[in-house]
Parts: sequence; C-alpha cells; structure tokens
Amino acid sequence: MNRRRKLMLGNWKMHHLRSDLVKFGTEFRQSLCSPLASVLEQVDVGIAPSFLCLETLTAQFPEHGWWNVAQNAHYAATGAFTGEISIPMLHEIGITKILVGHSERRQYFAESDQVVGKKVQACFERGMHPIICVGETLEIRKMELAEKTIESQIRAALQHCPPGSSFTIAYEPVWAIGTGIAATARQAQDMHQFIRRVLADLFGESVAIALRILYGGSTKPENISELLSQPDIDGALIGGASLDGGSLARMINSAVSV
Ligand code: 13P
Repeated sequence: MNRRRKLMLGNWKMHHLRSDLVKFGTEFRQSLCSPLASVLEQVDVGIAPSFLCLETLTAQFPEHGWWNVAQNAHYAATGAFTGEISIPMLHEIGITKILVGHSERRQYFAESDQVVGKKVQACFERGMHPIICVGETLEIRKMELAEKTIESQIRAALQHCPPGSSFTIAYEPVWAIGTGIAATARQAQDMHQFIRRVLADLFGESVAIALRILYGGSTKPENISELLSQPDIDGALIGGASLDGGSLARMINSAVSV
C-alpha cells in the first residue's frame, strides 16, 4: 500500500471562456460527493485552464489545496519572445505549478526534449512545480520502442534536476489522447511501473516511491476507477472529460473512494 495522495487535474487546453466558469463551478460543486474543502483533505485537485482564466479560477476556487496550473511557460525569465508567458509572470499571479512538455506542445509547437529540459530546469530554478508530460505515439508503440522513448523523454526532462526538487510525471500515450481509446489499466500500470524504475535509477528508491505519476488519455467517469486502482497510478490528467463540471466531479469522487 503506497502513501501517495491521488492528484486529479483537468487540462482544459484551448477550451472554455471566462464567462463559462460560473456554470462550470456550480455544476462541479453540486456533483462532488462532499464539500470541496473536505474533498481536498483526501485528494489533490485542480485545473489547468487557459492563461486568461487563471485568475478567475483562483477566485472561484479559493479552498486551500486547490491546484491552479498553467498549461505552459517559456524557459526565459524575460526577453523578446512575442506571444510567450514567463514563469515570473505566472508567479506574480500566484501560480506555482505548470504543465511542461504536453504532447500537443511537442507535436504542434515543435517542443523538443531539449526545450522541455530547459523549461523543467527553469521551473526548478524559480520554485515552480512542473508536471512533466511524456508519451509515445502509436507508431513507436507498434515498434516496441515505447519504454525506450519514455525513458529518454524523462531523462532529458530531468537532466538538470537538483536533489529534492518537487515535480510530477504525467504519462499520456499520444494514441490515447482525445481518441476515446484509453490505455488499458494493465498497459498504463506497466508503463507507470517502468517510469518509477527509471525515477529510482535517477534519484534512488525512496524518492521514486514518493513521486506521483498521473495517467492521461481518454479518461472518463466510466474508466477512471479501474485506472486509479492500479498500484502505480497516482491520479489523472483529464482532458475532454474535465470540461463538464459534473463529469470532472464524478471522476474526483472515484478518486476519493478508491
Ligand atoms: P483527453 O482526456 O481528452 O484524452 O486528453 C488527455 C490530455 O491530453 C490531458 O492532458
């Protein structure tokens, strides 16, 4: 029995306007099994909305322990990078957690392993907690190179990781994201166990056992319990099913009861 608390995060990607948030919040709170403050005593919960929704969401969920997460940030603290957001800018509005290396950033915005490594390093230097996303494509899996790929993504992301750094890993197989075809609980557990072995190799057994590894990719209220009951699955990074307040709340209810 491990002692890691479950962490349930919604990733809204480029969805939801600020004007959607009141309805979302009402439905979310109504569908939770108990008041949000009590839920947060048992599991960690949060959302990564668009940058423009971050402050509104902070105001809407002031409960202690709620995670307000940015979806991305540049590795430079300041500079001529039109259209980018820096870590100090996020700090200024109270954000301390960032998704780094999501597969959509890698796929559509050409984020290489090297860039992901620089972003993670910048997070550690500036006191941010990165949620580091890794995942293989279907082609890579079919070639039986999934583990090798995940290992090299993790090693590149954490190459400048000082001892004692705080971070989370999210395993999101690219073939499962937005496809409706989640990894089976067995597939996900096997990869999470492998990731924990890589982390043990990098940082030692006692560190690896304490780190949280989330699963992401077509999670929904119907499949979340089975995934969360696997020994090395410590929570979920939820895309489409987090957009509806009721659906996200039901998934969190499952995390409370596994
Ligand atoms: P879906 O849950 O929509 O498959 O998205 C997963 C994801 O990319 C979360 O970061």
